[in-house]
Amino acid sequence: KEREINEKQMEVDDIYASGDDGAVIRRKDWLGVNRDRRSAGESTTPSPTHRLFYQNKQLELYAAKEANRLTLRQLVFFGRSMDEDRLIKSANYVRTELPVRISHRLRDMQKLPFIVVTQEGVAKVYDLYWTAFEKFRRYPPINSLEDNAAFCRFLANILREHSTVIPTLALGLSLSSPHLSPDELDSFMRRMLVSRISRRVLAEHHIALSEKIHSGRQSSSTQGEPHVGIIFTGLNVRRSIEKCANLLRQRKPYWPEVQIDGHLDTTFAYIKEHLEYILFELLKNAMRATSSYNRSASSPAPVRVTIFAGTNDIGVRISDQGGGLFDTKVKTPSDLFSFSHNRNAARLQDSRLDTLRTLSSSPSGLRATVGEQVDRWQQNSDSESDSDDDASNPEMEAGVGPHAGIGIGLPMSSIFAKYFGGSLEMVSMNGWGTDAYLRVPKLGTNLEGIEV
Ligand code: COI
Repeated sequence: KEREINEKQMEVDDIYASGDDGAVIRRKDWLGVNRDRRSAGESTTPSPTHRLFYQNKQLELYAAKEANRLTLRQLVFFGRSMDEDRLIKSANYVRTELPVRISHRLRDMQKLPFIVVTQEGVAKVYDLYWTAFEKFRRYPPINSLEDNAAFCRFLANILREHSTVIPTLALGLSLSSPHLSPDELDSFMRRMLVSRISRRVLAEHHIALSEKIHSGRQSSSTQGEPHVGIIFTGLNVRRSIEKCANLLRQRKPYWPEVQIDGHLDTTFAYIKEHLEYILFELLKNAMRATSSYNRSASSPAPVRVTIFAGTNDIGVRISDQGGGLFDTKVKTPSDLFSFSHNRNAARLQDSRLDTLRTLSSSPSGLRATVGEQVDRWQQNSDSESDSDDDASNPEMEAGVGPHAGIGIGLPMSSIFAKYFGGSLEMVSMNGWGTDAYLRVPKLGTNLEGIEV
């Protein structure tokens, strides 16, 4: 069966293979990689994008369908009493849902001005999505656990192949920003990223649920916190804040302390990676700015974090004395969250574009785990001449993080916050400091955002 599937995929790949890009897929092991396929995981030959860009028959059929959006609660309830039958239902949902979601974004890309499509990075992402769309569309129904094991390997492979999408897209869109209005660019990028998060959530959740059924023994409370698939059902907010603060202070011991108050026992059901991505990003910006703004102080004022458990929402306020956010170049919160060089000139800095180029061809991937966030941040801040010099520069602050120097940490945090209906706001008191207000829904009853 697996050979049959592989052969089908090879046929699809053959259509897209050009020259020595040689699209031979040899799948090997559970969660294996296409190691034989492309040495660095990516194509270096010119893509067939331009040839295929507007070939649409199948795409139209899928793009006409609405995404079947879910709530966090549905993901938990469905996963909680998992058995073979439900797992196979979940697999077929993912199999049929992902091509619909991908098709919406392919249509979005087709609506871009052609000059944008020709920018380095944009064509590559289009190619990746088109190939993934074809693979999903042709994937046969899953009827048994064996089929599901093959499907999970297939999913894991695609997740890995897409691991460089964010820097690649950020590169393409930065280069395109002279050709798109800031509003067009930002709303396109937001849809691409929300949709990508949604697809990865569905794929990763399904793989996590499958691992449990396939191994038949994995506990649902690894790391001391109960979880269903990738959703932690008793996520302890204080513990996540402490974890991020400790990681940051290990790396920069002279950064300020983080003091936590409020509803310290708050727990709720959420995707831990998403919450910790945001907390890490906000804390890093706050600690870094405080340290830099108060260079002469022997011990900079602590960053204060307040946790609030409301009836419907969890709130986290992070207050720093880092001098505030805005200056003559970055004037409003939407500038900070913007991907356009018109709103944020740092988008077209050569150093940033070089970092994007490196990351977009690095097969190491960018997942939203805090461990990887730290690694990535360390690697990049180590290579900066003095990583703290630009700490009071909000343009750079927007850029530090898992995707250090590429200006995506803060916009990504906002997108993560909004994904299940939360919000992220920044309030600056220039000359004093910044308050970041994160709100995430507590009940898990909001549907994923409309842009999936
Ligand atoms: C992505 O990571 O960009 C995806 O779209 C992954 C999905 C196809 C499983």
